[in-house]
Amino acid sequence: MTEKPKLFVTRKYPNALELRLLANYQAVLNPDDTLIGTTALIAGAKDADGLLVTITDRLTEDVISALPDRLRVIATFSAGYEHIDVAAACTRGITVTNTPDVLTDATADIALLLILGTARRAAEGIGMVKDDTWGSWSPEGFLGTDLKGKRLGIIGMGRIGQAVALRARAFGMTLHYHARHRLPPDQEQGAVFHANADSLLRVSDILSIHAAATSDTRHFLNAERIARLPAGAIVINTSRGSLVDEDALIAALRSGQVAAAGLDVYDNEPNINAAFRTLPNAFLLPHLGSATVETRAAMGNCALDNLDAFFAGRKPPNGVT
Ligand code: DGY
Repeated sequence: MTEKPKLFVTRKYPNALELRLLANYQAVLNPDDTLIGTTALIAGAKDADGLLVTITDRLTEDVISALPDRLRVIATFSAGYEHIDVAAACTRGITVTNTPDVLTDATADIALLLILGTARRAAEGIGMVKDDTWGSWSPEGFLGTDLKGKRLGIIGMGRIGQAVALRARAFGMTLHYHARHRLPPDQEQGAVFHANADSLLRVSDILSIHAAATSDTRHFLNAERIARLPAGAIVINTSRGSLVDEDALIAALRSGQVAAAGLDVYDNEPNINAAFRTLPNAFLLPHLGSATVETRAAMGNCALDNLDAFFAGRKPPNGVT
Protein backbone atom coordinates (compact mmCIF):
# COMPACT_ATOMS: atom_id res chain seq x y z
CA MET A 1 0.00 0.00 0.00
CA THR A 2 1.38 3.42 -0.90
CA GLU A 3 1.85 5.92 1.88
CA LYS A 4 -0.77 8.61 2.21
CA PRO A 5 0.54 12.06 1.26
CA LYS A 6 1.55 14.31 4.18
CA LEU A 7 -0.44 17.51 4.59
CA PHE A 8 0.15 20.43 6.91
CA VAL A 9 -3.16 22.13 7.75
CA THR A 10 -2.91 25.65 9.18
CA ARG A 11 -6.44 26.15 10.61
CA LYS A 12 -9.16 24.10 12.27
CA TYR A 13 -11.95 22.97 9.94
CA PRO A 14 -15.44 21.49 10.47
CA ASN A 15 -15.40 17.93 11.75
CA ALA A 16 -16.66 16.24 8.58
CA LEU A 17 -13.92 17.89 6.59
CA GLU A 18 -11.20 16.90 9.04
CA LEU A 19 -12.46 13.30 8.92
CA ARG A 20 -12.17 13.39 5.13
CA LEU A 21 -8.67 14.84 5.50
CA LEU A 22 -7.59 12.12 7.92
CA ALA A 23 -9.03 9.38 5.72
CA ASN A 24 -6.88 10.34 2.74
CA TYR A 25 -3.83 12.05 4.18
CA GLN A 26 -1.31 11.96 6.97
CA ALA A 27 -2.62 15.31 8.08
CA VAL A 28 -1.17 17.51 10.80
CA LEU A 29 -4.21 19.40 12.07
CA ASN A 30 -4.56 22.49 14.24
CA PRO A 31 -7.22 21.42 16.80
CA ASP A 32 -6.94 24.65 18.83
CA ASP A 33 -7.09 26.80 15.72
CA THR A 34 -4.00 28.68 16.86
CA LEU A 35 -3.06 31.45 14.42
CA ILE A 36 0.36 30.49 13.19
CA GLY A 37 2.96 32.88 11.86
CA THR A 38 5.51 32.43 9.15
CA THR A 39 8.06 30.60 11.28
CA ALA A 40 5.55 28.01 12.48
CA LEU A 41 4.22 27.61 8.95
CA ILE A 42 7.67 26.84 7.57
CA ALA A 43 8.42 24.49 10.47
CA GLY A 44 5.08 22.70 10.04
CA ALA A 45 5.64 22.30 6.31
CA LYS A 46 9.05 20.63 6.88
CA ASP A 47 7.98 17.07 6.02
CA ALA A 48 4.85 17.87 4.06
CA ASP A 49 3.90 17.05 0.48
CA GLY A 50 1.20 19.68 0.50
CA LEU A 51 -0.34 22.54 2.46
CA LEU A 52 -3.94 23.42 3.22
CA VAL A 53 -3.89 27.15 3.98
CA THR A 54 -6.33 30.03 4.02
CA ILE A 55 -6.48 33.82 3.87
CA THR A 56 -4.90 34.29 7.30
CA ASP A 57 -1.65 32.68 6.10
CA ARG A 58 0.96 34.74 4.26
CA LEU A 59 2.86 32.74 1.67
CA THR A 60 5.32 35.31 0.46
CA GLU A 61 8.22 34.61 -1.88
CA ASP A 62 10.48 34.13 1.19
CA VAL A 63 8.12 31.61 2.75
CA ILE A 64 7.74 29.71 -0.51
CA SER A 65 11.49 29.56 -1.02
CA ALA A 66 11.81 28.04 2.49
CA LEU A 67 9.36 25.18 1.74
CA PRO A 68 10.88 21.70 1.34
CA ASP A 69 11.54 20.32 -2.15
CA ARG A 70 9.02 17.53 -1.62
CA LEU A 71 6.16 20.01 -1.19
CA ARG A 72 4.33 20.20 -4.53
CA VAL A 73 0.90 21.69 -3.85
CA ILE A 74 -0.68 24.53 -1.87
CA ALA A 75 -4.47 24.41 -1.61
CA THR A 76 -6.12 27.51 -0.22
CA PHE A 77 -9.50 27.34 1.48
CA SER A 78 -10.61 30.59 -0.18
CA ALA A 79 -11.54 32.03 -3.53
CA GLY A 80 -9.04 34.86 -3.14
CA TYR A 81 -5.38 33.93 -3.36
CA GLU A 82 -3.56 37.24 -3.04
CA HIS A 83 -2.01 35.91 0.19
CA ILE A 84 0.07 33.50 -1.91
CA ASP A 85 2.91 34.59 -4.17
CA VAL A 86 1.69 32.47 -7.06
CA ALA A 87 4.57 33.50 -9.33
CA ALA A 88 7.08 32.30 -6.71
CA ALA A 89 5.15 29.03 -6.33
CA CYS A 90 5.14 28.55 -10.11
CA THR A 91 8.88 29.10 -10.27
CA ARG A 92 9.31 26.34 -7.67
CA GLY A 93 6.94 24.07 -9.63
CA ILE A 94 4.35 24.18 -6.82
CA THR A 95 0.69 23.94 -7.88
CA VAL A 96 -1.71 26.42 -6.23
CA THR A 97 -5.46 25.81 -6.05
CA ASN A 98 -8.41 27.82 -4.69
CA THR A 99 -12.16 27.41 -4.02
CA PRO A 100 -14.13 29.68 -6.39
CA ASP A 101 -17.85 29.40 -7.27
CA VAL A 102 -19.03 27.70 -4.08
CA LEU A 103 -19.12 30.96 -2.11
CA THR A 104 -20.81 33.09 -4.77
CA ASP A 105 -24.33 33.06 -3.31
CA ALA A 106 -23.29 33.49 0.32
CA THR A 107 -21.08 36.47 -0.57
CA ALA A 108 -23.73 38.06 -2.80
CA ASP A 109 -26.25 37.69 0.05
CA ILE A 110 -23.91 39.61 2.36
CA ALA A 111 -23.46 42.33 -0.26
CA LEU A 112 -27.26 42.72 -0.29
CA LEU A 113 -27.32 42.79 3.50
CA LEU A 114 -24.81 45.65 3.38
CA ILE A 115 -26.75 47.46 0.66
CA LEU A 116 -29.98 47.21 2.65
CA GLY A 117 -28.25 47.99 5.94
CA THR A 118 -26.60 51.15 4.63
CA ALA A 119 -29.61 52.37 2.64
CA ARG A 120 -31.85 51.96 5.70
CA ARG A 121 -29.33 53.13 8.35
CA ALA A 122 -29.30 49.84 10.20
CA ALA A 123 -26.02 50.50 12.04
CA GLU A 124 -27.40 53.70 13.61
CA GLY A 125 -30.65 51.99 14.49
CA ILE A 126 -28.99 48.97 16.08
CA GLY A 127 -26.66 51.28 18.05
CA MET A 128 -29.58 53.28 19.48
CA VAL A 129 -31.63 50.25 20.41
CA LYS A 130 -28.65 48.62 22.13
CA ASP A 131 -27.50 51.81 23.90
CA ASP A 132 -31.06 52.57 24.95
CA THR A 133 -30.85 56.02 23.31
CA TRP A 134 -33.85 55.62 20.99
CA GLY A 135 -36.11 58.51 22.02
CA SER A 136 -39.30 57.68 20.17
CA TRP A 137 -40.63 56.90 16.73
CA SER A 138 -40.81 60.12 14.74
CA PRO A 139 -41.95 61.03 11.24
CA GLU A 140 -38.43 62.09 10.31
CA GLY A 141 -36.51 59.50 12.30
CA PHE A 142 -33.96 57.29 10.55
CA LEU A 143 -34.86 58.38 7.05
CA GLY A 144 -32.96 56.22 4.64
CA THR A 145 -33.37 55.73 0.94
CA ASP A 146 -35.42 53.33 -1.20
CA LEU A 147 -33.52 50.85 -3.34
CA LYS A 148 -36.22 50.86 -6.01
CA GLY A 149 -35.16 53.06 -8.90
CA LYS A 150 -31.63 53.61 -7.54
CA ARG A 151 -28.61 52.88 -9.72
CA LEU A 152 -26.31 50.09 -8.54
CA GLY A 153 -22.80 50.27 -9.99
CA ILE A 154 -20.91 46.99 -9.89
CA ILE A 155 -17.14 46.99 -10.22
CA GLY A 156 -16.08 43.54 -11.42
CA MET A 157 -18.85 41.49 -12.99
CA GLY A 158 -17.56 37.99 -12.27
CA ARG A 159 -19.66 35.34 -10.61
CA ILE A 160 -20.27 37.34 -7.42
CA GLY A 161 -20.94 40.60 -9.26
CA GLN A 162 -23.53 38.81 -11.42
CA ALA A 163 -25.16 37.21 -8.36
CA VAL A 164 -25.42 40.64 -6.71
CA ALA A 165 -26.98 42.05 -9.91
CA LEU A 166 -29.55 39.26 -9.95
CA ARG A 167 -30.57 40.00 -6.36
CA ALA A 168 -30.55 43.81 -6.78
CA ARG A 169 -32.85 43.53 -9.78
CA ALA A 170 -35.46 41.96 -7.52
CA PHE A 171 -35.36 45.17 -5.44
CA GLY A 172 -36.10 47.28 -8.51
CA MET A 173 -32.62 48.73 -8.87
CA THR A 174 -31.19 49.87 -12.20
CA LEU A 175 -27.96 47.99 -12.89
CA HIS A 176 -24.64 49.20 -14.29
CA TYR A 177 -21.25 47.49 -14.34
CA HIS A 178 -17.64 47.94 -15.24
CA ALA A 179 -15.40 45.00 -16.11
CA ARG A 180 -12.39 44.53 -18.34
CA HIS A 181 -14.63 43.11 -21.07
CA ARG A 182 -18.30 43.29 -21.83
CA LEU A 183 -20.09 40.07 -20.84
CA PRO A 184 -22.40 38.09 -23.11
CA PRO A 185 -26.00 39.37 -22.66
CA ASP A 186 -27.14 36.27 -20.73
CA GLN A 187 -24.57 37.07 -17.99
CA GLU A 188 -25.20 40.81 -17.84
CA GLN A 189 -28.43 40.47 -15.80
CA GLY A 190 -29.76 43.47 -17.71
CA ALA A 191 -26.91 45.69 -16.48
CA VAL A 192 -25.48 48.50 -18.61
CA PHE A 193 -21.80 48.01 -19.47
CA HIS A 194 -19.33 50.86 -18.86
CA ALA A 195 -15.99 50.37 -20.59
CA ASN A 196 -14.62 53.09 -18.35
CA ALA A 197 -14.67 52.93 -14.52
CA ASP A 198 -15.16 56.70 -14.19
CA SER A 199 -18.30 56.55 -16.31
CA LEU A 200 -19.66 53.86 -13.97
CA LEU A 201 -18.78 55.87 -10.85
CA ARG A 202 -20.78 58.88 -12.11
CA VAL A 203 -24.01 56.85 -12.24
CA SER A 204 -23.53 54.80 -9.06
CA ASP A 205 -25.98 55.80 -6.33
CA ILE A 206 -24.68 52.64 -4.71
CA LEU A 207 -21.28 51.26 -5.69
CA SER A 208 -20.51 47.61 -4.94
CA ILE A 209 -16.95 46.33 -5.36
CA HIS A 210 -16.37 42.77 -6.60
CA ALA A 211 -12.93 42.85 -8.20
CA ALA A 212 -9.90 40.78 -7.20
CA ALA A 213 -7.06 42.24 -5.13
CA THR A 214 -4.04 42.75 -7.36
CA SER A 215 -1.31 45.38 -7.55
CA ASP A 216 -3.42 47.09 -10.26
CA THR A 217 -6.57 47.31 -8.13
CA ARG A 218 -4.86 48.46 -4.91
CA HIS A 219 -6.66 51.60 -3.66
CA PHE A 220 -8.86 51.59 -6.76
CA LEU A 221 -11.42 53.64 -4.84
CA ASN A 222 -9.27 56.64 -3.91
CA ALA A 223 -10.21 60.26 -3.16
CA GLU A 224 -10.25 61.17 -6.86
CA ARG A 225 -12.66 58.39 -7.76
CA ILE A 226 -14.82 58.94 -4.68
CA ALA A 227 -15.28 62.54 -5.90
CA ARG A 228 -16.77 61.18 -9.13
CA LEU A 229 -19.58 59.38 -7.30
CA PRO A 230 -22.90 61.23 -7.02
CA ALA A 231 -23.02 63.28 -3.79
CA GLY A 232 -24.38 61.07 -1.00
CA ALA A 233 -23.55 57.79 -2.73
CA ILE A 234 -23.22 54.54 -0.80
CA VAL A 235 -20.08 52.34 -1.01
CA ILE A 236 -20.19 48.56 -0.46
CA ASN A 237 -17.12 46.32 -0.31
CA THR A 238 -17.21 42.54 0.06
CA SER A 239 -14.11 41.79 -2.03
CA ARG A 240 -10.87 42.89 -0.37
CA GLY A 241 -10.01 45.90 1.75
CA SER A 242 -7.01 46.75 -0.39
CA LEU A 243 -9.29 48.01 -3.18
CA VAL A 244 -10.32 50.98 -1.05
CA ASP A 245 -8.18 53.86 0.17
CA GLU A 246 -9.66 53.76 3.66
CA ASP A 247 -8.43 57.23 4.71
CA ALA A 248 -10.16 58.70 1.65
CA LEU A 249 -13.35 56.76 2.38
CA ILE A 250 -13.35 57.85 6.04
CA ALA A 251 -12.93 61.51 4.99
CA ALA A 252 -15.84 61.14 2.54
CA LEU A 253 -18.04 59.48 5.19
CA ARG A 254 -17.26 62.37 7.53
CA SER A 255 -18.02 65.05 4.94
CA GLY A 256 -21.16 63.32 3.67
CA GLN A 257 -19.80 62.99 0.11
CA VAL A 258 -20.37 59.30 0.80
CA ALA A 259 -23.61 58.89 2.79
CA ALA A 260 -22.77 55.42 4.10
CA ALA A 261 -20.38 52.51 3.63
CA GLY A 262 -21.11 48.83 4.09
CA LEU A 263 -17.87 46.92 4.59
CA ASP A 264 -17.11 43.24 5.14
CA VAL A 265 -13.41 43.55 4.35
CA TYR A 266 -10.60 45.87 5.43
CA ASP A 267 -7.05 46.71 4.50
CA ASN A 268 -5.46 45.41 7.69
CA GLU A 269 -7.79 42.74 9.04
CA PRO A 270 -8.57 42.17 11.84
CA ASN A 271 -6.95 45.43 13.00
CA ILE A 272 -9.31 47.75 11.23
CA ASN A 273 -8.81 51.49 10.97
CA ALA A 274 -10.28 52.62 14.33
CA ALA A 275 -11.94 55.65 12.72
CA PHE A 276 -14.51 53.35 11.11
CA ARG A 277 -15.84 52.45 14.56
CA THR A 278 -16.60 56.09 15.32
CA LEU A 279 -18.70 56.61 12.18
CA PRO A 280 -22.45 56.09 12.58
CA ASN A 281 -22.78 55.76 8.80
CA ALA A 282 -20.41 52.79 8.58
CA PHE A 283 -22.14 49.40 8.62
CA LEU A 284 -19.32 47.00 9.49
CA LEU A 285 -19.05 43.21 9.36
CA PRO A 286 -16.04 41.01 10.22
CA HIS A 287 -15.26 39.37 6.82
CA LEU A 288 -18.11 36.87 7.01
CA GLY A 289 -19.19 36.86 3.36
CA SER A 290 -18.70 33.12 2.96
CA ALA A 291 -19.57 32.20 6.54
CA THR A 292 -22.49 29.81 6.27
CA VAL A 293 -22.35 26.17 7.35
CA GLU A 294 -23.18 25.04 3.83
CA THR A 295 -20.71 27.31 2.07
CA ARG A 296 -17.79 26.58 4.38
CA ALA A 297 -18.45 22.84 3.94
CA ALA A 298 -18.51 23.31 0.16
CA MET A 299 -15.29 25.33 0.28
CA GLY A 300 -13.62 22.56 2.29
CA ASN A 301 -14.75 19.85 -0.07
CA CYS A 302 -13.64 21.93 -3.03
CA ALA A 303 -10.17 22.38 -1.46
CA LEU A 304 -9.93 18.63 -0.83
CA ASP A 305 -11.17 17.78 -4.34
CA ASN A 306 -8.28 19.89 -5.60
CA LEU A 307 -5.77 18.06 -3.38
CA ASP A 308 -7.19 14.62 -4.17
CA ALA A 309 -6.97 15.29 -7.91
CA PHE A 310 -3.43 16.58 -7.56
CA PHE A 311 -2.19 13.56 -5.61
CA ALA A 312 -4.01 11.20 -8.00
CA GLY A 313 -1.95 12.72 -10.82
CA ARG A 314 -4.89 14.61 -12.35
CA LYS A 315 -5.26 18.33 -13.04
CA PRO A 316 -6.94 19.91 -9.98
CA PRO A 317 -10.35 21.38 -10.91
CA ASN A 318 -9.39 24.80 -9.53
CA GLY A 319 -5.75 25.47 -10.25
CA VAL A 320 -4.97 29.20 -10.25
CA THR A 321 -2.10 29.09 -12.71
C1 DGY B 1 -12.41 34.13 0.07
O1 DGY B 1 -12.68 32.93 -0.06
O2 DGY B 1 -11.55 34.68 -0.61
C2 DGY B 1 -13.17 34.89 1.11
O3 DGY B 1 -12.74 36.17 1.26
C3 DGY B 1 -13.16 34.16 2.45
O4 DGY B 1 -14.06 33.15 2.32
